[in-house]
Amino acid sequence: MNEFYAAAEAQRERLIAWRRDFHRHPELAYQEERTAGIVAAHLERLGYRIRRGVGKTGVVGVLEGSRSGPVVMVRFDMDALPIQEETGAEYASTVPGRMHACGHDGHVAMGMGMAELFARWRDRMSGTLKLIFQPAEEGGNGAEAMIRDGALDDPRPDIFLAAHLWNDRPVGSVDVTPGPVMAAAEKWTCVIRGLGGHGALPHQTVDPIVTAAHAVVALQTIVSRNVSPLETAVVTVGAIHGGDAFNVIPAQVELLGTIRTYEPSARDTAIRRLRDILQGVAATFGAQAEVDIAPLTPAVINDYQVTSAVRRAAEAVLGPERVTSGERTMGSEDAAFFMRQVPGCYFFVGAANPARGLVAPHHNPRFDFDEEAMVIGLAILAQAAAFYLL
Ligand code: NI
Repeated sequence: MNEFYAAAEAQRERLIAWRRDFHRHPELAYQEERTAGIVAAHLERLGYRIRRGVGKTGVVGVLEGSRSGPVVMVRFDMDALPIQEETGAEYASTVPGRMHACGHDGHVAMGMGMAELFARWRDRMSGTLKLIFQPAEEGGNGAEAMIRDGALDDPRPDIFLAAHLWNDRPVGSVDVTPGPVMAAAEKWTCVIRGLGGHGALPHQTVDPIVTAAHAVVALQTIVSRNVSPLETAVVTVGAIHGGDAFNVIPAQVELLGTIRTYEPSARDTAIRRLRDILQGVAATFGAQAEVDIAPLTPAVINDYQVTSAVRRAAEAVLGPERVTSGERTMGSEDAAFFMRQVPGCYFFVGAANPARGLVAPHHNPRFDFDEEAMVIGLAILAQAAAFYLL
């Protein structure tokens, strides 16, 4: 067995104990006080130089080796979700309406294990390991908050690594993909203002519902007619709010949605066309559209060199036949903020186990994963960091 797999394997019981403890005590974005406290105490005990309260509840731990060398930063997200758990697991959430339904409990456990391993190997290390435990990955842009608080300074990282336990794949398989792996995301809102009136007298109104209906259909042409067929984009209308009564034409309708893209050219096209279509359709019907498009996260783009190192690490741990390439999602991930500044690799660690019924998707009340995936994820992160540091 690969040395790093064996080292991670020896941590198995502790990983499971940590993970189950975090799972029982989930904390929402920017409220990860208990989790961060446990992490910080652990790192401190191991001799890491730590900073607490980075990005409100984040923790940064720095371990300098005995010789100089590169700075490798590894990121673990800590937040849970506002979901009522329905797994029935013995280690289920003890907090009503809060649940680790994305596997971040496992990520924190992997980070604790990684801290432990490298503290032991410190004398062999040429360079610096920087572990960051991030709040608010789930839509709260905790990465940006940490960067604002100096997470990328003192020392400045040369390499960035992050992994996600992934229930779209079976445990024992890993995907490491160069280039774009998660999409850039924008949130858009549009208020269509017409002129309200009696449902029986539409000629006296400017009907924002009919306008919105045309707009929703017209927006479908952004992906089908405007973005290059060789590029990827999603334009979704996720909410439509308007009207209260069967016999009243309301004065306005609100639309909410998201744009997802990989390439900046597709992103620019989608943003420009979204605005033009909403305003143009509204004008056609005599209404007005007020459009607001806000960027959420950039795309996660894996650096080719770092990704090939992670791929070698995954192959060393699992054997080449269990490492794939090509997993991409239009989901978004705020690790992109780190990766915009530091060449890195974000990869997917298979965590589902159909034989044990562990197949529920992420963010589902029945989400749970095979804990062996933490051992594998830790082994690959340790092996990849070791290429640079040991
Ligand atoms: Ni997640």
